[in-house]
Amino acid sequence: MSRAVLDAQLDHLRLEARIGGYEAANTTAAAFDGVYRSIARLIGASPDEIALVENATTAWNLAFHSIELHEGDVILTTEAEYASNYIAYLMASERRGARVRVVPSDADGQLDVAALEEAIDERTRLISITHVPTNGGLVNPAEEVGAVARAAGVPFLLDACQSVGQLELDVDRLRCDFLTATGRKYLRGPRGTGLLYVRSTMLDRVAPPLLDLHGAEWVASDRYEPRRDARRYENWEFNHAAVLGLGVAVDEALARGIPAIEDRVTGLGASLRAGLTDAGFTTYDTGRRRCGIVTVAVPGLDAGNVRDRLFDQGINVSVTTPASTRLDAERRDLPDLLRLSPHYFNTEDELDAAVAALGALGS
Ligand SMILES: Cc1ncc(COP(=O)(O)O)c(C=O)c1O
Repeated sequence: MSRAVLDAQLDHLRLEARIGGYEAANTTAAAFDGVYRSIARLIGASPDEIALVENATTAWNLAFHSIELHEGDVILTTEAEYASNYIAYLMASERRGARVRVVPSDADGQLDVAALEEAIDERTRLISITHVPTNGGLVNPAEEVGAVARAAGVPFLLDACQSVGQLELDVDRLRCDFLTATGRKYLRGPRGTGLLYVRSTMLDRVAPPLLDLHGAEWVASDRYEPRRDARRYENWEFNHAAVLGLGVAVDEALARGIPAIEDRVTGLGASLRAGLTDAGFTTYDTGRRRCGIVTVAVPGLDAGNVRDRLFDQGINVSVTTPASTRLDAERRDLPDLLRLSPHYFNTEDELDAAVAALGALGS
């Protein structure tokens, strides 16, 4: 997080402590509304198509569980699908008899759009894919998928958790009906923030899986009316400080310019991959189009141990295990991988230092 993102949260927490939680919310109501406008600008949506929740997983589940699925209905997805999403597909098949069909990847490792087109039939109820998988730098061809989904009249749910903030996203070009994302990754926002985009035309076609007194109004003893906008997907209670921090993070990304961020992050990702390859490591990122996420293994060493030893040297990396993307991991026989995710503030020198540190551990 930047200093300004941190300060926005601390200021709000101090205000809550000083004058009270509801009172602080009243005082900052305009800034709070501004967060919806900023997020809408970020992804080319309208503010009333945005709902804010506590993480990307909740946003995704709210979208997924608003699609009614019955015995024999089919969900089409990718090989590099994220574990939590796939668990939801398996639950839908256990509970409702829906079937999940995995669209194969093409020779480059991205979702095969022609195979997707062929897989659609009258039982297809949802196309649901991850844009940038959790285990690598692949960017799935989401715009092409959106075009296929729109032509077939099938709802399209895009998990953009790892693309928001690093890649340009425009919901009209993507033609997605739902898009879900987190604040805590490339947006550099606070933890515990997630955003859900719901296309306005979907609001009358599907219902949120749960509604509280914020998402709906109890208008008569036997009747409720959902809100008109996407905020029907929200709960009444919020971490206001986190939302205000997220707004600042989004404004910072917009001020810097997403195309410039994308250029820089993608460039750093490519030069890190090249540096690792030159140093004798194997990287595992597939796809015609790649982004800032870089995955690598250090043969003979436990990935968690390498992560911890790098942390001791001031280098933060994470570990992605086969269970996070089981289909792709099994197909490619992937080990636990180190995940390096440079952002625009990283320097080429820092990338060189990371490669050198890995080289020293690996030798
Ligand atoms: C592709 C993908 N989707 C969703 C999530 C979940 O995000 P969150 O933990 O913020 O709910 C992650 C987190 O790693 C992810 O990589």
